[in-house]
Formats: sequence, C-alpha cells, structure tokens
Amino acid sequence: MQRLIPTLRNDQVDEALISVINTLQICAKEISFRCGQGKLAGVLGSTLDENIQGETQKKLDVLANQLLKDILLECKHVRAVASEEEEGIVGGTLDGRYLVAFDPLDGSSNIDINSMVGTIFSVLPAPAEPGAEVDMFLQPGSNQVAAGYILYGPRTMLVFTTGKGVKMFTLDQTVGEFLLTEADVTIAETTTEFAINMSNHRHWQPGMRRYIDDLLLGKAGPRNKDFNMRWVAAMVADVHRVLTRGGLFTYPWDSRKANKPFKLRLMYEGNPMAWLVEQAGGLADTGEGRILDIQPTDIHQRCGVILGSRDEVTTCLQYLKGSQ
Ligand code: AHG
Ligand code: MN
Ligand code: MN
Ligand code: MN
Repeated sequence: MQRLIPTLRNDQVDEALISVINTLQICAKEISFRCGQGKLAGVLGSTLDENIQGETQKKLDVLANQLLKDILLECKHVRAVASEEEEGIVGGTLDGRYLVAFDPLDGSSNIDINSMVGTIFSVLPAPAEPGAEVDMFLQPGSNQVAAGYILYGPRTMLVFTTGKGVKMFTLDQTVGEFLLTEADVTIAETTTEFAINMSNHRHWQPGMRRYIDDLLLGKAGPRNKDFNMRWVAAMVADVHRVLTRGGLFTYPWDSRKANKPFKLRLMYEGNPMAWLVEQAGGLADTGEGRILDIQPTDIHQRCGVILGSRDEVTTCLQYLKGSQ
C-alpha cells in the first residue's frame, strides 16, 4: 500500500503543500494517541473555559488545539492558523505560502463516551505580500488548495483532497504511517440513508420539516422507498459515512438561535467537508446556494449544511424552495 508522501508526489502536489499536509499528519498521530489514552492520561472532561463559539471547552478541545498550533506554526510554509477554539488568528512564518483553518476536535460531546471524534482542516493560499491579518482568511471555499479530516475511530483515518479526487489513508499502527486504502472515493448518486438531529424537528423551516416527514413515511409516502437514519453527533464521522456508502447529512437552519441560526462553522466545517463531497461527486449546499461560493465576512461565521448524494441533496433543496 502506498505511503502518504509518494502519493502526493504522484499527484504533483507542490512541495510546500506536501510539507503542510505532512505536518498535519504528524499532529494527527499525536492527537490520535491522546484520544486513545482517555482517562489514563487525565484528558477527559471539561475545562472551566468557554470558547469564542460560546461552548464549554473539553480538555481535549484545548489539547488538540494547542498541539495543532504548536506543530503547524513550526512549519515554515504556514503563514497563520485560524481555529474554532481561538478568537483571532495566530501568525506563523511571515512569508509562508499557506493559511490553515481547523476544527481541532470535532464531535466534542463524544469524547467522554469513547465514540468517534476527528480533526477537520482547510488549507488556503496566503497572499503574495508578507504579513498575517485576519482578512487573509476571508476567501471562499472554492479557493482551498487542500482540505480534509482525520477520523479517530476504531481506525485512525486521514481523508483529504488537493483537487484531484478524494483519498483515504489508514494509520497502520505497526509501522506508524498512513497508508493509502481508498484511492478515489465516489459518493453514490442515490441513497436511502440520512443524518440529522431529529430532536430539533420543531425548530426547522417548514420545507425541511416536510422533507424529513416524507422520508419517515417511507414506501407509504411520496418518496416511495424506506429510509434509514444515522446520527453520530460528530460531523466528521457522519460525513465519513456519507463518503463511504452515500447518504444525506444536514445541520439546517434552526429558529432558536435568532442571530446564529446555524450550528456549523463555514471555515472549519462547512468548506472543507463541502469540497471533499464535491470532489467525490456529491453536492454541498446551504439551502440557498453552493457552500464553496460563500464569501466569508468573519472567520467564525456559520452556515447551513446540506451535503451528500447528488440526487438526495437535489430533492431536499426542492422541498426547501417549496417546489416539492
Ligand atoms: P464541535 O464538537 O467541533 O463543536 O462540533 C460539533 C458539531 C458537529 O460535529 C456535529 O455534527 C454537531 O455539532 C452535533 O450536534 P448535536 O449536538 O446537535 O447532535
Ligand atoms: Mn466546539
Ligand atoms: Mn466541529
Ligand atoms: Mn471542535
């Protein structure tokens, strides 16, 4: 099985970008080890702090964030990083060519129950002139040069795209290296599986309620087929399932949060996952347009996310637009 660096070279990925991806896989191994230690290393539970998102930080959120910052900022190609857990950006090498945005630990509520979590990353080009300003990050997801995630599950997997399809690597613990296990991931166009937090049903827009209600009716309803539901409560794991066997994943508009009607963050969750899904032949939309087309105005901004199998996302969007 092919190792990471030769695979990237085969794809003619720029050497500086290879170095950034290599740095990310070093972080991944370290975080994977810490997640595996759990209580043995005293890393479970919460801190007393709140992050910029208004969430109580888990000890592993803080640890993973610190590891990523420390290791990435040592890479001379990294100009600056932005994180779900940091209010502002953190500068690195002044003439570094790349910016890295990340969700250090996705699925924090799964940490203490020993369920799946992950790290999501998005690499953007830095402007030609040296310096590190927050505005440099405000680029649409279509500008990404690499994006992906590391899933810490029964197997630790690195899944990413550099614009040449989606590749999956599995960490071989015996040699301590990520080896290529899926060279060209494609998402099935049709599906009978969906992922949504059903407990929020009463807070959705009418179109989303009608869409999900019709899925639940199965063969007895207008969709004329039975659907199954899965929700890991970690986007990284729910999207991994979609990439592996198709499906629709959504975290839609929610009436409870008047000024923040969406949960997922554009730069750390929406954009990287949207690019992966598109590269695998699926669709990724906010409900009002392609996620990758959004021009960000704030590094912490949030967006609606509807992604996965092409036909199912299209159907969901028709319900939202009231045409079904
Ligand atoms: P994070 O742990 O990085 O804050 O992200 C959590 C997100 C996402 O991973 C997941 O899809 C969603 O929150 C889960 O939400 P519910 O708690 O509503 O299930
Ligand atoms: Mn969080
Ligand atoms: Mn997250
Ligand atoms: Mn997180």
